[in-house]
Amino acid sequence: MAPARIPTLVTGRLVLRSLVPDDLEPLIEIQAEESFWWYPLRAGMTADQTAAFLERVLESYERDGFGLEAVVERASGSLMGWAGLAVPHFLPQILPAVEVGWRLAGAARGRGFATEVGAAAVAFGFTSGGLERIVSIYEPQNAASGRVMEKLGFTPSLSTIGPRGEELVVTELRRARWEEHTAGAAPRHAAASPPGTSVPPDEPDPRQSTV
Ligand SMILES: CC(C)(COP(=O)(O)OP(=O)(O)OC[C@H]1O[C@@H](n2cnc3c(N)ncnc32)[C@H](O)[C@@H]1OP(=O)(O)O)[C@@H](O)C(=O)NCCC(=O)NCCS
Repeated sequence: MAPARIPTLVTGRLVLRSLVPDDLEPLIEIQAEESFWWYPLRAGMTADQTAAFLERVLESYERDGFGLEAVVERASGSLMGWAGLAVPHFLPQILPAVEVGWRLAGAARGRGFATEVGAAAVAFGFTSGGLERIVSIYEPQNAASGRVMEKLGFTPSLSTIGPRGEELVVTELRRARWEEHTAGAAPRHAAASPPGTSVPPDEPDPRQSTV
C-alpha cells in the first residue's frame, strides 16, 4: 500500500504535521502528565502506553489515510501535543464519522493554541478533505475542550457513553454552518494555508475512509 499523505498545516504560531517515530521521547513526557489524559483515563500514560499510542496513530495513517498529528510551536520547534482529524473508532455507535480533537502539554494551554490548530484542521477537512460534517467529542466536565468546540462553531448533537462508562457529548459542525461561522472572520483559508504554505494537492478523501 502506498504511504498515506498526511497534510502539513501551518498557522500563525503552530505547525500541524504528521507524527513520526522520533516524536516518541517528547511525547512520552507530555502524555505522562496526569491532566493530559485526565479525560478519560484519570491518569497519565506510561512510556509503554505512549509507544503503543504512537504506533496506533501511525497505523491510522495507513488504514484511514489520515489521523492525529503533532502540534509543533513554530517559535521554539517544540512538540506541544497533538491534534487534528481522526476516525473515532473508540465510539463505533457514531461511525461513520470524522472527529477533530486536541490535547496539549500543560505549559501550552491557555494561549489559544487548541482553537488555532483546531480551526486549521476543520478548514482542511471542509476544503481539501471534502467533508460535509465533523464531530468533536468531550466529557461535559471538560469545560476547556467544550469551549474550544463552541468557539469553532460546534453544537451538541447527542449524548452517549464511552468505552470506560464515561458520559460523552458529541458535538458537530456541518460544512454549511462552518461557512457561515467563518464568514466575516479571517479569510477562510488563512489558518490552514497562509502565504507560502502549500497543502499536498491529492489528499485522500476522509469520507471514503470512514465506512
Ligand atoms: C482542552 C485543551 C486542548 C484546550 O487547549 P487551549 O489551547 O488552552 O485552548 P484555547 O486557549 O484555544 O481555548 C480554551 C478556552 O476554554 C476556556 N477555558 C479554559 N479552562 C476553562 C474552564 N475550566 N472552564 C471554562 N472555560 C475554560 C478558556 O478561557 C478559553 O476560552 P476563551 O478563549 O473564550 O477565553 C487543553 O486544555 C488540554 O490539552 N487539555 C487536556 C487534554 C484534553 O482534555 N483534551 C480534550 C479532550 S476532549
